[in-house]
Amino acid sequence: MRRPFIAGNWKMNLNRADCVALARAVAEQVAAGGPVDVAVCPPSVYLDAVAQAIRGSAVGLGAQNMYFEGNGAFTGELSAAMLLDVGCKYVILGHSERRALLNESDAVVNQKTKAALAVGLIPIVCVGETLAQREGGQTRQVVTTQFDGSLAGLTNEQMSQVVIAYEPVWAIGTGKVATPAQAEEVHAELRQLLASRFSPAVAEQVRLQYGGSVKPDNAAELLSQPNIDGALVGGAALKAESFLGIIAGAKA
Ligand code: 13P
Repeated sequence: MRRPFIAGNWKMNLNRADCVALARAVAEQVAAGGPVDVAVCPPSVYLDAVAQAIRGSAVGLGAQNMYFEGNGAFTGELSAAMLLDVGCKYVILGHSERRALLNESDAVVNQKTKAALAVGLIPIVCVGETLAQREGGQTRQVVTTQFDGSLAGLTNEQMSQVVIAYEPVWAIGTGKVATPAQAEEVHAELRQLLASRFSPAVAEQVRLQYGGSVKPDNAAELLSQPNIDGALVGGAALKAESFLGIIAGAKA
């Protein structure tokens, strides 16, 4: 059985005090030993403060990005080891905003994924098509290309550690959520890709999150789909009440 996994991607939002307050509010409500894995991913400058706020709780810490090199002259970048050092368990990689705005390629996402795994961070690797690609009937091809490029060269053991987030670009921050059937179709394709490129056992193990306008009122139906194991939540993760409402949907 795959444990449901709900992660909040706070993106470039909130200040230090807001981050600490939100992290505390979430941590207070997420019971240890509960049925759902929960993580919060604040802006990197607040990782340390949030790590303190959730210390001893069942909530995990995630970063929103990292660089693939170990250390050195890479001004402005953060290494996997630094994220681990500050208390991260997870790192989001290849988010569509980074792919689109910062030209992050599948090859770079692949290097980052390997660097994260090498230190024991769990990568949350994002894939997803744009509206034009969906309307052009290219969803399967786009997601397959991203999957193959971003996850190339991983061993089965490494792959079984990875979380994949399917985030259709047209559903991110738009309020246009994919229907449960649309999301499930792509998740089922991702599961098949895992079985064919890695192994059926890996496919059974890897958790697939859906992301894109997940809210408390649509979470339960999305999360009840057989191949949707969790959610990567943006806007609705910025308020404890709505994030907790989504977590409740994962238990239903
Ligand atoms: P929204 O939930 O705001 O649509 O964002 C989804 C997302 O991009 C999470 O990574």
